[in-house]
Amino acid sequence: MKTLIAYYSFSGKTAKLAKERAEKEGADLWEIVPLKRYSLFTAYLRGARQAMKQVATAIEKPKADLDSYEKIILAAPVWAGFPAPPFNAAAELLPAGKKVEIIFCSASGGPTKGAQATKELIEKRGCEVLGYEDLKPKK
Ligand SMILES: Cc1cc2nc3c(=O)[nH]c(=O)nc-3n(C[C@H](O)[C@H](O)[C@H](O)COP(=O)(O)O)c2cc1C
Repeated sequence: MKTLIAYYSFSGKTAKLAKERAEKEGADLWEIVPLKRYSLFTAYLRGARQAMKQVATAIEKPKADLDSYEKIILAAPVWAGFPAPPFNAAAELLPAGKKVEIIFCSASGGPTKGAQATKELIEKRGCEVLGYEDLKPKK
């Protein structure tokens, strides 16, 4: 299955996981880049609140043609129990009919409230959510 891994990473952990997974599966990678990058300060001050409200922040145009993939894996760090806001912007670009897997990258709490809401967000796009995992990388 032709697979794309789209990931946002603030401090590098999700990026590392995404790259390892891409290598294992022979998948392509798309790094989701917000137009306005977060600092640690704005991530906690603004980003966490946006995440809880499932706000889609503006991102750079994708470098990959999303339509050409059968499966799209979306990966992002968990902020305040939800995926970080650039994830939502990438989810908005999903063409209907795609098979989607979600990778949350968290510290201790995980996607407490966000998992179900994220699944619903993607299903609203007309995509099939194959599943999600919550990974807690140490480094
Ligand atoms: C603003 C902010 C909020 C966070 N909120 C949570 C949270 O609610 N639950 C959790 O388990 N981890 C939380 N974390 C930790 C990250 O999810 C975790 O460190 C993740 O592995 C970082 O991935 P990254 O290096 O790709 O950015 C938060 C981190 C930041 C910066």
